[in-house]
This record gives sequence, C-alpha cells and structure tokens, in this order.
Amino acid sequence: MQRLRNKRVVLGVTGGIAAYKSAELIRHLTKLGAEVQVVMTSAACEFITPLTLQALSHNPVHLDLLDTKAEAAMGHIELARWADLVLVAPATADFMARLAGGLANDLLTTLCLATSAPLCLAPAMNQGMWRDSKTQQNCQELLERNIRLFGPSDGSQACGDIGPGRMLEPELIVEQAADVFESDILTGINLMITAGPTREEIDPVRYISNYSSGKMGYALAEAAVEAGATVTLVSGPVTIPAPDRVSVIDVTSAREMHQAVHGNMNGQDIFIGCAAVSDYRPEEILREKIKKDPDNASETLDIRLVRNPDIIASVSALEQPPFVVGFAAETQNVLNYAADKLNRKQLDLIVANDVSDREIGFSSDNNEVAILGKDLEETLPRASKKVLARKLLKIIGRSYHTWKTEQESA
Ligand code: PMT
Repeated sequence: MQRLRNKRVVLGVTGGIAAYKSAELIRHLTKLGAEVQVVMTSAACEFITPLTLQALSHNPVHLDLLDTKAEAAMGHIELARWADLVLVAPATADFMARLAGGLANDLLTTLCLATSAPLCLAPAMNQGMWRDSKTQQNCQELLERNIRLFGPSDGSQACGDIGPGRMLEPELIVEQAADVFESDILTGINLMITAGPTREEIDPVRYISNYSSGKMGYALAEAAVEAGATVTLVSGPVTIPAPDRVSVIDVTSAREMHQAVHGNMNGQDIFIGCAAVSDYRPEEILREKIKKDPDNASETLDIRLVRNPDIIASVSALEQPPFVVGFAAETQNVLNYAADKLNRKQLDLIVANDVSDREIGFSSDNNEVAILGKDLEETLPRASKKVLARKLLKIIGRSYHTWKTEQESA
C-alpha cells in the first residue's frame, strides 16, 4: 500500500477504552511510510500514556492548546497545516458532539477546525450511545461537512453489550485512510506546474504585474505530491511558503519563466500552466528611475509594451509534448473563451476560472471552476483552493492515463 508513503498523519486520540488500539494503529501507519504526529485529549491520557505513543510515533505527543513551549515547537495551526490527513481514532461520542457543534475547546478540536486536510473519524462508544438520536444527528452533521466516518463495527463491547459502536480494527482504519488519497494515480509521474504572477520591470523601482497570489498553483503542487507525483514548481514572486517535497524554481519575469520551464522540461509527463503570465512587457527596461517633471502635473508617460512568449503554447508545440493543462482567467463568456484557448493553444485540458468575482480567482482562498477537454466538461463547485486542487488532480490524473494509453496504442 504505497498511498500512505510519506503522508503526514495527525492522529487524534480521544478518551475511550479503544485508545489502546491507537498504539497498533501508529505501528501500521509508520510501517507503511507515513509520518505520524499524535494529539491526545486529556481523557485519552487516562487510558494510554503519551509516552507509549511518543515511542511508537517517534515524535513528541501534543497535549495542550495553551502550552507555550509546545506552541513554540509546533503550534496547533502549524500542525493543522502540516497534516495531509487528520485521523481521530478512537473518536468518542463527546468528541464528535464537540466537533459537530463547532467547539474549539482543546487542541484536537481546534486543529480539526483549522485544518484543510481531509478529516476522518473512527467512532468508538457503547452501542446505546451510538444509537442515541443526538449522536446520529451529530454524525449526519459531520458527514455533511465532508468529514468521513470509518466504521464503527458491530460486536461485543468492553462494557459487555453487543451491538454497533466498536472501533474498526486498526488494519481496516489504515486501509480506509489510504483510500482518502486517490492514488497511486500520479505515482511515478513527473509533473511541472507554473504558479503566481510574473513581474515585468519598467525601471529599477517599478514593474507591471497582476493579482495572482500563487495559492491555486501551490495547492495544485501540494495535491500532486499527495497523489504521488514528483513535482517541479516554477513560481513567480509570491509571499506564501512553498509546499514541502516540491522542487521550486523561483523566477520573476515571463521570459525567465519560459526559460525555466523549457530548461527543466525533459522527462515531464504533465505540465500545468496555472501562472498568471504577463502577456506584455515594456519594450525597454530603463536603467535609471523615471523622473517625473516637477513643473508639469498634467504630464503623461508612454510605455511601449511588447508581447511576451506564450509559455504554455510553446510547451504544447514541442515535438513530444507532455500532457498539457492550462487555466483560463476570464471575466466574461468564461466557458466560450476557455474553450477557444483550449483549441488555440492546443491544450489537453483547460480549467476555466471566472475572475470577475473577487471571492474566487485571484488572491482568494476559495475558487470555483469548470474543467474542459475534448470529451469532458465538469463544474467544480466553490471550495477552498486546497480541496479544489485535489479534485482537479483526480480529473487530470484520470485524463492523463487515458491520453497515455491512446498514445501508446497509436
Ligand atoms: O494565484 P492565485 O491568486 O491563487 O490565482 C489563481 C489564478 C486566478 C491566477 C489561476 O486560477 C488562473 O486562472 N491562472 C491563469 C491565469 C492566466 O494568465 O490566464 P490566461 O487566460 O491569461 O492564460 C491562459 C493560459 O496560458 C494559462 O494557463 C497561462 O498560464 C498561460 N499563459 C498565458 C500567457 C503567456 N504569455 N504564457 C502562458 O503560458
């Protein structure tokens, strides 16, 4: 099972008798190559010691939200960001109720709210508690928030009852955790992504650029790593941190991006052009700062612009191009203009992005797109760029494999 290799799992342990099984769960996860950070509630510490879970996970166990020392080492937000997956096993009725109610009154609930990683719970409780209508209502609420439930299973319980509420066995939890990561779908695939804006220099203190923050491209890079790809990210100037396990090539201008893309194209299987590349640059970059005329407030300034190379079109035009996916940032006739770019730039897929809405597109945390191809048109509803990136990568991965099979049989 390759899917958990190099994945970062935050394992939440809450206070139920099944907490002793968390030790075995950690062993399974680490054996499969996952890195595990354990977060325990105070009740969990009554059932199993942090020392045991620390020894098995090879990482300090996180216990308190308000511990300044622990926060300085790896705070709750950092943990939330670090995780590729947050798995709570066992998840007690109390924990599920608190999560369903949106409470953030300990470290585990806080990080569950803060994370954008997939969140999975393995419920464990007495059969009566599981059957209780309030618990069932909480489950429904959690499922509606895209939180996955693994189990529970049916059988004899520690309290002597028989019925539903037993925590799934650790091997089954691990299998379901692996299923969260679509793949394998990009294992062994080399994938290059461009992200962020480009900056076109006017003089030593001024430039032309756009509002791209890099969030969409960086989320795609992270999702591609999660799906098993080896990722090269060619990035314009942004202020967000680079995702881990990604080779980043920093560039500034469109011409530098063009050069970096082609200089590292050898062996790439998939190319995704998410960067907002400046279509034009000043014909001439001035060596000295342009000085305004202090005596002429109505003075105008002409800057002559010339076209930049079309990077994605030049990748499609290669003799043996990779599978090429573009983005189209449009403010009107979004689907029509995107379809036109798909054909004109000879792309395999294009992601149509309506950038007229400030809540999606440039700089926002969320996005809403449609993905178009020869035989494909799928709309992905509004979600965080991280969630959307995972969905896009699934579609891109599937289309790539179909394309590859067609190429090989041609
Ligand atoms: O970075 P964020 O703040 O998260 O914002 C994300 C985004 C809005 C930038 C992103 O989702 C997006 O839509 N990126 C494409 C922006 C763009 O330049 O679109 P376009 O329609 O002008 O270009 C079409 C395609 O050609 C794009 O794949 C672009 O990378 C590529 N292109 C454009 C011009 C050029 N000279 N070279 C190119 O490769």
